Amino acid sequence: MLHRDEEVWGADAAEFNPLRFRDGVGRAAAHPNALLSFSIGSRSCIGQDFAMLEAKATLAMILRQFAFEVAPEYVHAPADFLTLQPMQGLPVVLKLLDP
Ligand code: HEM
Repeated sequence: MLHRDEEVWGADAAEFNPLRFRDGVGRAAAHPNALLSFSIGSRSCIGQDFAMLEAKATLAMILRQFAFEVAPEYVHAPADFLTLQPMQGLPVVLKLLDP
């Protein structure tokens, strides 16, 4: 919910807008430590950089072989359990790209 605060993230806080991070995480919002996915301070996530690298590498490998889209049966029902989670799952249809 903190990541959707319009005072911090701007009027488009609820929009999926990866471009807000184009100048780095520290400049994406009104406060440089606004992104709390990995927490902040002395006990913040030690694996943050590795996790981001891993996510990019994994996504790049998937995108080389598959196109994907949200399945028609998807129901938009975000639930706030500290982080936002899809209450009814997030079914995705993967299509194998031509070799
Ligand atoms: C998307 C992936 C990840 C997310 C969202 C995440 C998030 C977090 C958060 C929020 C904390 C702070 C917990 C607290 O305040 O008590 C944390 C701590 C920690 N994370 Fe991660 N993490 C991720 C991946 C990883 C990976 C890949 C590693 C190791 C390779 C890792 C190792 C740790 C460790 C060791 C701590 C404890 C740091 C300490 O207490 O000093 N995390 N993580």
